Amino acid sequence: MAPLLQTEGLTKSYAGPVLSDVSFELQPGEVHALVGENGAGKSTFCGIVAGLRTPDSGRMWLQGRPYAPANKRVAEAHGVRIVLQELNLIETLSVSENLFFDQLPHTLGGWISRASLREAARNALGRVGLSELDPDAPVSGLGIGQKQLVEIAAGLARQCRLLILDEPTAALTPADAERLFLQIQKLKDAGVGIIYISHHLEEVLRLADRVSVLRDGRRVATRPRGELTADEMIRLMVGRALDDTAARAEKRSAGPVLLEVQNLSAPPRVREVSFALHRGEILGFAGLMGAGRTETVRALFGADPRQTGKILLDGRDVTAGLHSPTDAVRLGIGFLTEDRKSQGLLLDKPVRLNISLAQLNGDLRGPAGALRRQREVAAAQTWVDRLAIRCASIEQIAGSLSGGNQQKAVLARWLYRNCQVLICDEPTRGIDVGAKSEIYRLLDQFAREGKGVLVVSSDLKELLALCDRIAVISAGRLVETFERGKWTEDQIMSAAFSEMKV
Ligand SMILES: Nc1ncnc2c1ncn2[C@@H]1O[C@H](COP(=O)(O)OP(=O)(O)OP(=O)(O)O)[C@@H](O)[C@H]1O
Ligand SMILES: [Mg+2]
Repeated sequence: MAPLLQTEGLTKSYAGPVLSDVSFELQPGEVHALVGENGAGKSTFCGIVAGLRTPDSGRMWLQGRPYAPANKRVAEAHGVRIVLQELNLIETLSVSENLFFDQLPHTLGGWISRASLREAARNALGRVGLSELDPDAPVSGLGIGQKQLVEIAAGLARQCRLLILDEPTAALTPADAERLFLQIQKLKDAGVGIIYISHHLEEVLRLADRVSVLRDGRRVATRPRGELTADEMIRLMVGRALDDTAARAEKRSAGPVLLEVQNLSAPPRVREVSFALHRGEILGFAGLMGAGRTETVRALFGADPRQTGKILLDGRDVTAGLHSPTDAVRLGIGFLTEDRKSQGLLLDKPVRLNISLAQLNGDLRGPAGALRRQREVAAAQTWVDRLAIRCASIEQIAGSLSGGNQQKAVLARWLYRNCQVLICDEPTRGIDVGAKSEIYRLLDQFAREGKGVLVVSSDLKELLALCDRIAVISAGRLVETFERGKWTEDQIMSAAFSEMKV
């Protein structure tokens, strides 16, 4: 039988080569995972298959027939769909309109039938565990995990024979991911072929029938699942064994209280939250999706209004002067948001500017207010090197960086800004294994300089590896704080569920 998809010699260059001579094969009912470092070319490859980009050379066949989609619509007409890595919902439209954007159900007069739209939306949302969500609600009010689920629901709602999932679980909780895996199994059973991209290697080993590894735009290996371990995958991805000693840093010692938050409320999600962050400390916020972790740090940062709450920095009450992100930044608080696309990066500006923004009113201004151009270039280059941001040059437009490299660019900006408190919301979302330990190392170093880090993460392993203390938020309340050495995963999980109504 002809493979569902076959590619031969796919090649693509922008400023430099991005994909070189990639041959690949997918059978019906197969999950074929694609792994590789940030910038290895995974999304580019999938973009070509889904008709979003055209290759410079190379050929493709779909069930034995030549296949060269001129655009996304043509690919979709052939039954090829992609759920993109970056969120692409239209904020001003409702959930159901987003779900069926390109095929809004029509009645005779050409009017959109609200009832049938809602019905179809309920079905689609049910499959990803969002049956509680109102299909008429605007997308702008959803959290990032919910947005990701809506995108997946949109992909699943259509008939297709080849589905590409580009890092679908990056913003999902373990429970939501499980629900997705169940849907993937159903699609497999129905003979749909799936290309699955993920940086979670344990996920790949569980789901994939075969795994292909891309390195610097080349396919360096394809193996059946049984013939590959996570360590081997990493070695193939980075071309060497990974040194993980960085993640096992020695103990940090906490200094005096740097930030104190008393009785912070921002209804309906944040209720009377109090905590203290010490100098030299990394404090984690654990909890379930929707528990109010992001909302808590947003209210602290002045991004959302607070109803009550007192905020002290180095013992000084700064509550009255902290009502916006601008205030927060002025006071020395930084915020690496979970949603880099809408809140972090200037997508149409070069990497250089995205990094130097941090000091445009500081270090980089000369005596007469003139921009110190050479200093700017040098600083940007230093950060690109330190975080190993993969770009053609610092002049590359940030929006064209790979997903993981965009995340690194936002982090570089905050580290360069030299704030005292750095809030990180899902700092390693979409980051490859090697870069992850590099980011842990940078945050560790930041804390060791006597500053403080607040980390929100859905990945409990990440918090366990990184934090000195972990505070658990459940239904908007900070229910318990655990110290390193005195915690177990079970205790933290049960605290996360403690305020949930059953
Ligand atoms: N329009 C573009 N202009 C210039 N370079 C581009 C463009 N699109 C992609 N690239 C480059 O192609 C390379 C591969 O990017 P791609 O998005 O395919 O990586 P990826 O493997 O999906 O990485 P990640 O894990 O970070 O998502 C990157 O180095 C990126 O900078
Ligand atoms: Mg990608």
